[in-house]
Amino acid sequence: MPDEIDRPTPRRKPRQEVTQVGGRTLRPATLMMGLGYDPLLSEGALKPPVFLTSTFVFESAAAGKRHFEALAGKRTGEVDGLVYSRFNGPNQEILEDRLAIWDGAEDALVFSSGMSAIATLLLAYAQAGDVIVHSSPLYAATEGFIGRVLAKFGVTYVDFQAGADRAAIDEVLARARGQAEAQGGRLALIYLESPSNPTNALVDIKAVAAGRDGLCGGDDHCPPIAIDNTFLGPLWQRPLEHGAEIVVYSLTKYAGGHSDLVAGGLSGAKRWMDPVRSLRNTMGTICDPNTAWMLLRSLETLEIRMTRATENAVKVCDMLKDHPKVEEVGFLGLLSDGAQADIYRRHCTGPGSTFSLYVRGGEAEAFRFLDALKVAKLAVSLGGTETLASHPAAMTHLSVPAERRAALGITDNLVRISIGIEDPDDLIADFEQALAAV
Ligand SMILES: Cc1ncc(COP(=O)(O)O)c(C=O)c1O
Repeated sequence: MPDEIDRPTPRRKPRQEVTQVGGRTLRPATLMMGLGYDPLLSEGALKPPVFLTSTFVFESAAAGKRHFEALAGKRTGEVDGLVYSRFNGPNQEILEDRLAIWDGAEDALVFSSGMSAIATLLLAYAQAGDVIVHSSPLYAATEGFIGRVLAKFGVTYVDFQAGADRAAIDEVLARARGQAEAQGGRLALIYLESPSNPTNALVDIKAVAAGRDGLCGGDDHCPPIAIDNTFLGPLWQRPLEHGAEIVVYSLTKYAGGHSDLVAGGLSGAKRWMDPVRSLRNTMGTICDPNTAWMLLRSLETLEIRMTRATENAVKVCDMLKDHPKVEEVGFLGLLSDGAQADIYRRHCTGPGSTFSLYVRGGEAEAFRFLDALKVAKLAVSLGGTETLASHPAAMTHLSVPAERRAALGITDNLVRISIGIEDPDDLIADFEQALAAV
């Protein structure tokens, strides 16, 4: 049988990917303009078309069989063709190639939301009797999924505070392993969020990786470390370089960057992505082609947007930190000493543009500040071109029990702010007049 018969019909990969010029490896900002897409395979269209189709035509029955063998795990190697839009599609695959570039990962997967990425990941790795170790705080829906949804399937968890040192991490990992043995399961996954939502507390990824390596030396099963990098990634923190195996994103935030889409992503080595891809194929949690197309557009300006937003945040926080109506500003760019500053210096290359502002007073004062804002919009979410402000205790983290909120530092005077790319002096003027109204 000639070779071509076995080849998938829709070929979207460029025959030759340009990733180096004159011995120089091209940077992600350059690769975002073309990687993974060959215009000549799509009538010369400079930008990839949106492939609105539910299914893909096979060149032959043998080619179709070959794809399904790969999908069903009966043949090693990639599903090298397009099959059905619940599994893959050109827009999504180009996006995955480009997302992987930012994290220096071998592979990536995209999802219909950050939460569907997280849920598919957790369900792929945990089974009845298993234990998940996670840092705290977590985005409330993630915490709820681990604590309430996975509990229905016999999966338990042990958590530790972001910022914990090696000794505390070791103690938690040992306790989790004991708990898993007692339940007849394994320590399935270590799940981190750093910086955490909403307090910006950082996790020492390197210490967690060292603790994990110490715990499982020689064991058959060594739990992977996954980390939600939504607040700083993919520009200001590259967790795979610090010992994590899987990077998690709400692409809704900085990656999407325009507050006009909802999506999620995972990146890491293929061996870590494969079990999740397989479950995504079953559940259909992949993102749609239109959203993938919009994310391709967004990734072209990622570096420039995140850089400008971060510069703006530095200027705004410089004003806020000395303001008499402000108790404290939880901005990574203001960390100067202590354990958090040390973690920041070892893991991050920039502070991002999302921070916590503790207004003097309580909920009433925080609400007066929020209601007085004129340029910044009062809305949850973050990472868009526009500045947003919200009240975690009354909004995103309302479902977290009050005592736990207090223990995690999610207080009534906490306002979370995500700075956009507006003129920084306009933002400073807005925050000054809103604080005057408190
Ligand atoms: C840190 C973090 N992770 C995950 C999510 C969930 O993402 P999505 O809303 O895209 O499902 C969010 C949403 O705010 C978040 O802030």
